[in-house]
Amino acid sequence: MTPKFPFPKGFTWGAATASYQIEGAARADGRQPSIWDVFCAEPGRIADGTSGEVACGHYERYRDDVAMMARMGLQAYRFSIAWPRAIGADGKLRPSGFDFYDRLVDELLAAGIEPMATCYHWDLPQFWQERGGWQARETVDRFAEFAGAAASALGDRVPKWCTLNEIPVAWIAGHVDGAHAPGLKLDERGSRAVCHHLLMAHGAALRAIRASAAKPVAIGLVHNPTPFVPFFEDDGQIAAARDAFRDANAWCLDPVFKGAYPADQLERLGDAAPPVQPGDLELIHEPGDYFGINLYSAWQPVHADLGVGRYEPHFPKTQMGWDITPDCLYWTARFLHERYAPASIVVTENGSAWPDEVDADGRVLDWARVEYLRGHLRGLHRAIAEGVPVDGYYAWSLMDNFEWSFGCQKRFGLVHVDYETLARTPKLSAEWYGKAIRGNGF
Ligand code: FCB
Repeated sequence: MTPKFPFPKGFTWGAATASYQIEGAARADGRQPSIWDVFCAEPGRIADGTSGEVACGHYERYRDDVAMMARMGLQAYRFSIAWPRAIGADGKLRPSGFDFYDRLVDELLAAGIEPMATCYHWDLPQFWQERGGWQARETVDRFAEFAGAAASALGDRVPKWCTLNEIPVAWIAGHVDGAHAPGLKLDERGSRAVCHHLLMAHGAALRAIRASAAKPVAIGLVHNPTPFVPFFEDDGQIAAARDAFRDANAWCLDPVFKGAYPADQLERLGDAAPPVQPGDLELIHEPGDYFGINLYSAWQPVHADLGVGRYEPHFPKTQMGWDITPDCLYWTARFLHERYAPASIVVTENGSAWPDEVDADGRVLDWARVEYLRGHLRGLHRAIAEGVPVDGYYAWSLMDNFEWSFGCQKRFGLVHVDYETLARTPKLSAEWYGKAIRGNGF
């Protein structure tokens, strides 16, 4: 059947995960503790008291998981490399820390699945946290060394790389409101330094990966832009949403794309402005090959007269309590393209959580997730039809996993995970998604 929403030839369809959320094996093969191991051990930090210590047990089950991905029809798989596996107790890099990823990558390639590796999906080694973590400039260099070593080990076979995942979340949740590891509540000055170092870490890793990979690879930042959707599609409303997008996103994105912090915001910060040294902004501005966006919900609709973020409290929501706004991918890709024009945009995460259960027939009929995927992909289709260069989509997530401070209660997977037995059950959404992949549209 010809799809009603065909995607361009060469469009990449994948699914994403992150090391701490799925691997488990927290003490295997010399892995050092990360800030998340420490954070999870503190009472009250994780809603259900769980941790990533076992998670989905993917470290032992990766072969079966790759076979499952192949059956689903996935073309690509985005995973992250755990920095804590790649250091010894003295903080020094150890090449054997990449062995697991070496095997994983070979398995993926043998199954015809394209690997995409993220160097930092929030699991900073506790060793580096104790030496200042992202508050310390030195962490930027240590991270670049790690990313370079990862690219030396895997860059001959991994064609796509992400430097850091969601700087705003690592910055705000980790260092301002304390909801994520390392659970800090820094003042404005301290927190702006953290953000600056994270941005520098992106540029430094980009250079290190480019210099170390045996082949030319595509490298990008994975970002979670704050999304805005206009209430109505008239010029005034669209302009209001565009302005809101600029104001909320310029702090991280202007330095990345334009090489400068927004002057008005910098001035407002006064003494709390980030500790910029000569060369920092050139580093942050190092051009990437694509730009990754992670997007789940536009929780702040824009109305030209009513302003931003006023809406009815009974707006339909996912299990996370996040508003379902299928047009968010369209508007975000479009505003990003208009303001920054990255050569290529890739949706590196998008998905929804639901309280899925395996039914008496052994099936998980997650219609809500299918609807969510369909709606968001339609929005993306529209962006592409209007000329926005979107080249791929990675569903979050391949399987249910440890959802950070929410623990194991929020299920984002296309595949259900039974946390008692670690059995995997592909959901209806996996079937729907597989069909969309095979048809390059739906
Ligand atoms: C994103 C994270 C990802 C997952 C989803 C639901 O912010 O990158 O690890 O937790 O949210």
